Amino acid sequence: MTIRGAWLAAAAMLAVAAGAPPARAAEADFTICASCHGMGGVSYNFETPSLAGQQSFYAITQLFLFRAGRRTSEAMTEVAKPMSDADLGAYSELIGRLPAAAPAPGVTADPARMKRGAVLAEQYRCTTCHGADLAGAKQVPRLAGQREDYLARALAEFRSGARVGYTPAMNETLAGLGAAELGDLAHYIAHVSTLTGVAPAASAAPR
Ligand code: HEC
Ligand code: HEC
Repeated sequence: MTIRGAWLAAAAMLAVAAGAPPARAAEADFTICASCHGMGGVSYNFETPSLAGQQSFYAITQLFLFRAGRRTSEAMTEVAKPMSDADLGAYSELIGRLPAAAPAPGVTADPARMKRGAVLAEQYRCTTCHGADLAGAKQVPRLAGQREDYLARALAEFRSGARVGYTPAMNETLAGLGAAELGDLAHYIAHVSTLTGVAPAASAAPR
């Protein structure tokens, strides 16, 4: 049990002891999420994002978009639909506490694609918003440690307009880019973060 979990349990016991009905507190249980997003939020599933180290503010905006049907995903619409505002808060808080981890092993880096990706990342200023270490901040997502297949899909969907963000930042950023360039960017981002080093997966599994 986490400190917060323990605190909630203690608060509920106190409420019972005082004769009051236990407060209805949203408790986030990561077990169901882990079935797709992996233990500790490190995803081994194709096109399913890792959540380890993700920004909690970004997570809540995305859960909100899924719940409202503004970001389409069959799996996540199903997951987010029954969530209350308190649930959105509890899950995004939990995600924000998952320690950043090395990504699940993927395709090996191709030097030519890495070179092209680096030039594009510089030209389109990815790090000005996502941070020099690609860790993101607030509503800007962490990209470091993310799966390449998921990154490629996310970029393609922003580019085509199929994915609408909480802000139009990405749709605008990628406006002039073609499919091959997006692929090179995804390849570069996925590998540069492993080269610059992401803290190895912590032994403490969430909850
Ligand atoms: C059945 C599989 C499945 C389950 C269960 C699931 N997810 Fe997801 N989740 C996905 C997929 C697939 C995506 C990517 C959707 C897309 O491509 O737009 C996603 C995306 C997300 C995102 C956005 C991540 C990003 O980088 O943009 C968040 C946040 C998220 N899930 C949280 C959760 C939480 C919290 C739970 C548990 C309550 C959960 N998910 C359960 C499959 C799942
Ligand atoms: C002007 C700021 C800005 C710039 C520049 C920018 N991004 Fe983003 N990016 C964002 C924001 C904000 C989001 C979240 C959008 C949303 O609400 O869905 C995002 C989302 C993303 C996502 C989705 C991550 C996920 O987990 O689903 C990817 C991938 C991404 N950006 C890659 C890039 C790349 C690659 C570049 C450079 C070519 C770039 N970004 C440049 C602000 C920016």
